[in-house]
Amino acid sequence: MMKIKAATVTHAGDPLSIVDVQLDDPQANEVLIKIVATGVCHTDAVGRDGGTTPMPVALGHEGAGIVERVGSSVSTVKPGDHVVLSFAYCGNCSNCLAGHPGMCTHFNELNFEGANHDGSHRLHLDNGEDVSVFFGQSSFADHVVADVHNVVKVDPEVDLRLLGPLGCGIQTGAGTVLNYIHPKFGDSIVVFGTGAVGLSAIMAAKIAGVAHIIAIDIFDNRLALANELGATETINSKVVDPEQRVREIVPQGVDYSIDTTGVSSVIKTAIHVLKQLANAFCLVLAAT
Ligand SMILES: NC(=O)c1ccc[n+]([C@@H]2O[C@H](COP(=O)([O-])OP(=O)(O)OC[C@H]3O[C@@H](n4cnc5c(N)ncnc54)[C@H](O)[C@@H]3O)[C@@H](O)[C@H]2O)c1
Ligand SMILES: [Zn+2]
Ligand SMILES: [Zn+2]
Repeated sequence: MMKIKAATVTHAGDPLSIVDVQLDDPQANEVLIKIVATGVCHTDAVGRDGGTTPMPVALGHEGAGIVERVGSSVSTVKPGDHVVLSFAYCGNCSNCLAGHPGMCTHFNELNFEGANHDGSHRLHLDNGEDVSVFFGQSSFADHVVADVHNVVKVDPEVDLRLLGPLGCGIQTGAGTVLNYIHPKFGDSIVVFGTGAVGLSAIMAAKIAGVAHIIAIDIFDNRLALANELGATETINSKVVDPEQRVREIVPQGVDYSIDTTGVSSVIKTAIHVLKQLANAFCLVLAAT
């Protein structure tokens, strides 16, 4: 067991506070990692605001760091390896075995219920109270222990401070486009919300050769970044009616529509801008 500092929330909606926490030693299938940097995803705000994970909870789920110690059955990483932490999955259910760990049938319990497989906890306050782990990692901390499934080895030449968001926001946005939508060269796509997930979808759409990549948000600075990263058109939906503007750009409607806002009125618009028939999808990724 070691003493670490972690950013935790005790009551739903409280601001995060950095507290001393006891971290259990890694079990046979686990890895101890010194965190170098972590991304911040909107889902951390969802965890802070309650409803996903029992309180108190140590947040953070886009960790990047260096392996310090490995459990006796870990063979894929060793001390000194640079790693990025992603979501937890069991590795044994039918979906995991079919190559879809993001659809693990134990996804919710492993990522949101805060406990280990056996119901015990690996984080504890000084008074003995258990602290929930978030996404099997809790990366807003100087050290984490995580199941080896959460850990992806990365090139030590690449600056670890840049890599954390690969573990959630970037793979969610880019994976939606490249692994699920599979757009064809010349297709059209609208992305609602240009945070980490939306911007990653935009970058992936550019790589895929999408002709119209329309970014929609309510902040001009985010839209400017979307432009820089590959959006061909941007719409500030506080200023311009997004449905009307999309129809001006692509009169027959778009091939694909992605929502990352979680706002029900936006999701409705995301469906309305789609063209009839064809391979039109509306993917709602947002948890809020
Ligand atoms: N399913 C998954 O695997 C997964 C993974 C990561 C994040 N998420 C969820 O995806 C969502 C996006 O995450 P993020 O980290 O990119 O969040 P973010 O807060 O960085 O981005 C959301 C964007 O939506 C914009 N927005 C808000 N209301 C809007 C409105 N009415 N119209 C247009 N734009 C609006 C915001 O200005 C912001 O730029 C969150 O709900 C998060 O919880 C899901
Ligand atoms: Zn996330
Ligand atoms: Zn599984």
